[in-house]
Amino acid sequence: MKLIVTGATGLVGSEVIRLALRNPAVTSVIAIARKPVLAPVDVGPESQTSKLESVVLESWTSPYPESVMRHIEDADACIWALAVTPSQSKDMDFADVTTICYDYTINGLTNMAAHASKPFRFIYTSGVTVERDQEKTLPFLSEYRLMRGRVENTILDFAKQHHDKGVEVTVAKPGGIESPGREAISAPFTTMLETFGHTPTVHLSELAAAMIDQCLHGITKDPLWGEDLVEIGQRALSPEDYLR
Ligand SMILES: NC(=O)c1ccc[n+]([C@@H]2O[C@H](COP(=O)([O-])OP(=O)(O)OC[C@H]3O[C@@H](n4cnc5c(N)ncnc54)[C@H](OP(=O)(O)O)[C@@H]3O)[C@@H](O)[C@H]2O)c1
Repeated sequence: MKLIVTGATGLVGSEVIRLALRNPAVTSVIAIARKPVLAPVDVGPESQTSKLESVVLESWTSPYPESVMRHIEDADACIWALAVTPSQSKDMDFADVTTICYDYTINGLTNMAAHASKPFRFIYTSGVTVERDQEKTLPFLSEYRLMRGRVENTILDFAKQHHDKGVEVTVAKPGGIESPGREAISAPFTTMLETFGHTPTVHLSELAAAMIDQCLHGITKDPLWGEDLVEIGQRALSPEDYLR
């Protein structure tokens, strides 16, 4: 499988890269980012770092240039982990946050789907607090959560419209993500997440492995809630694959 990964320098994207390099069923990993992406240092001796190609993209809202398209031609799947997170969004102009979260994603899917293999599986990393129902009034981070919900709605519509071209989409909606060396989620945050349901904390490796598994073996449902990601991820991972 030829896998495209965005957000490859971030928490989620870098773990997707690490596990994809360890997985023999993934033959090629194309990391698209605004700066060069290196193979993670903790990838392990079993991995094939030569499978990783770093592709730098400067303009994310225009048609991708030929120099980028040539790398992503015939891709089988994409894990999209590029976004401005809720905490980062607080210090940014909301128009810029929307451009990065919404426009970059829709433009990315459109460009990739035009040149990808059939089927082409696109897994969008979102979160449990993101709301698809645009009629809802939300008590906190309303503008952000509804905007991310519009991303989810648009990519799912895109898949319906391009079903004949083999485009398949699902959305991963984890709650808390745990990983070694990362500060534990605070108790008030955990309590807040519990109000959404579907919120077991998912290990970073389980989240990444679950998304790779859906790319490899087919999308089983939408959305993929925390409990789905834990279940699929645990099934896909060997104990030695976990990030330590
Ligand atoms: N972290 C969590 O606990 C958590 C929980 C639930 C859901 N999620 C969701 O998981 C997804 C990934 O989150 P994360 O924690 O991995 O985020 P992260 O560590 O902040 O990574 C974000 C990625 O997006 C890229 N990015 C941001 N702005 C960009 C821009 N203007 N142009 C190009 N690339 C840009 C970053 O690249 P640069 O390095 O170049 O900035 C980075 O690779 C998000 O959708 C998030 O909402 C995260």
